[in-house]
Amino acid sequence: MCGIVGYIGHREAYPVIIKGLKRLEYRGYDSAGVVLYDGNDLKLSKTKGKVSDLEARAQEEISLTGTIGIGHTRWATHGVPNDVNSHPHFSNSGNLVIVHNGIIENYEPLKKELISRGYTFKSDTDTEVLVNLIEDVKKKDNLKLGKAVQIALNQVVGAYAIAVFDRERPNEIVAARLGSPLAIGIGKDEFFVASDASPFIEYTSNAIYLEDEEMAVIRLHKPMKIRKIKDDSLVDPYVQELQMNLEQIEKNGYDHFMLKEIYEQPAVIKDTYRGRLHANEGLIKMAGIEDNLQKFLNADRILIVACGTSWHAGLVAEYIFEEFTRIPVEVEYASEFRYRNPIINANDVVIAISQSGETADTLAAIKLAKEHGAFVFGVCNVVGSSISRETHAGAYTHAGPEIGVASTKAFTTQITVLTLIALRLASAKGTLSNSAYHRYLQELEIMPEKVAEALEVNDKVQAIAEIYKDAPNCLYLGRGYNFPVALEGALKLKEISYIHAEGYPAAEMKHGPIALIDEQMPVVVIAQKQEHYDKIVSNIQEIKSRSGKIIAVVTSGDTQVRELADHVIEIPSTVDALSPLLTTIPLQLLSYHIAVMRGCNVDQPRNLAKSVTVE
Ligand code: AGP
Ligand code: GLU
Repeated sequence: MCGIVGYIGHREAYPVIIKGLKRLEYRGYDSAGVVLYDGNDLKLSKTKGKVSDLEARAQEEISLTGTIGIGHTRWATHGVPNDVNSHPHFSNSGNLVIVHNGIIENYEPLKKELISRGYTFKSDTDTEVLVNLIEDVKKKDNLKLGKAVQIALNQVVGAYAIAVFDRERPNEIVAARLGSPLAIGIGKDEFFVASDASPFIEYTSNAIYLEDEEMAVIRLHKPMKIRKIKDDSLVDPYVQELQMNLEQIEKNGYDHFMLKEIYEQPAVIKDTYRGRLHANEGLIKMAGIEDNLQKFLNADRILIVACGTSWHAGLVAEYIFEEFTRIPVEVEYASEFRYRNPIINANDVVIAISQSGETADTLAAIKLAKEHGAFVFGVCNVVGSSISRETHAGAYTHAGPEIGVASTKAFTTQITVLTLIALRLASAKGTLSNSAYHRYLQELEIMPEKVAEALEVNDKVQAIAEIYKDAPNCLYLGRGYNFPVALEGALKLKEISYIHAEGYPAAEMKHGPIALIDEQMPVVVIAQKQEHYDKIVSNIQEIKSRSGKIIAVVTSGDTQVRELADHVIEIPSTVDALSPLLTTIPLQLLSYHIAVMRGCNVDQPRNLAKSVTVE
């Protein structure tokens, strides 16, 4: 999720690491830390806050000498952002030290086992469990660090990029990755380990990008060994000569953060259900829900409060919750809810959705709900954010930092969390048949692959964007689960291309908006092969008969809409309730390409802030 910088060589490590962490600041984070080794002492400084806070603290706390070190910027997933939970983390002996990006899914059972063997823990993180697991393996068989890391990682379920140092083998750093990126810079008698090449590109352009399930034992004056974590077999290192400049590296080669984040969706949907969705066992495990299950089951209704894209995710959730659990749901703009003297009962459950966890209107709505005695549950993307602290309980999305102002991966990971909650409640209430329940679990599990397939429409969408980039207006239509997606698609286009766009329930056209249709009006219609398909086809016919230009998002293989639409974008089929995770993809790409073609500032659109912390 966040940033790693390690160094071993002839230079003073601290300047390399601290500058490298600043290079990684674009990734967003909540805390930072560094450990240095000067041949005698392992010196640690870490803090909640910015790299600049670390810099100020380190200068006070430790001597900054040493030619070996590892640094970290944290994007918390387990354990709120504070000094103790910041990385690096030491093992109990004080000899091993680790930094980690990612999520150790099975950290709880591992922690329990280690505690039974006398290990103690200072932090609430999953990472501190990993470093003690490595120590436990190392001690048991008196192993070198590399072998201990390899064995320990075979006991781990989850995602990781790690750098580990052993005071007893001070001329090496062990690095490993699964699901989080890790690059090794190869200089003259020096090595760098980092989440991407930005921390070391100024020193060397020779780099190795570890592949998933690979680890590297990096030893000074020795050839680097790369091994497969699974079986310890050696891998021939592929050293690349990097041509990218700093900016390209930060965006992982994409032109904008928004595009990078659109393409991160398969991975972050998986990160979000990781450890929660157990499709084979037919289980959903979410502590925040389990601990408050009765509140949800006894709720007279569920109120959802949010803003913007998060409000659209709430609308999708309304359809999903009512369909799956038969609990009445009302979705409220937090900015309206907070002032309209709403009726809130103690038996209401309020779900507050917010990517940033800092939206003032949503925060105010939460406080109002709590004053009326309602139970408030948060769905946030930022661990330790104000909203996550204000709510009674919650479930985090694990989308990682969303840098682009226009929300993309936040939307799909919010829907993922909300779907998990609805399925867990449905299973407890028995309001879904066993077969339907399992079908949804299985479909959600393979959704990352389907989203990746949906992303393959990019070139087709770019060609369509070229045709409509100068349209003065645009309409987005959808039905059922895809009505909120139509609203979200319109918002994306509005906020980054500045074209006026409106989303409507498709059937609403005849109640007025159809008067807008003429050959100047592009109409994006979400026409998945699902319930009411025939109705949406007739809506399309109504538009066509008035010379509207139709851009249809259809299920792969659709033939009927193809005959009517001016442009057809085919995406994989799925169950109706999960279709927003797929139908939103072409709409994100359409708004992105149109905005780029119009020369707009895609990542920082005019007048907008990433988090609206004011009224
Ligand atoms: C969506 O693309 C916008 N960035 C905006 O509508 C955003 O969704 C809204 O401000 C809510 O932000 P939050 O999810 O951080 O609360
Ligand atoms: N899961 C670890 C933690 O919460 C690492 C988070 C990260 O990727 O920064 O500390």
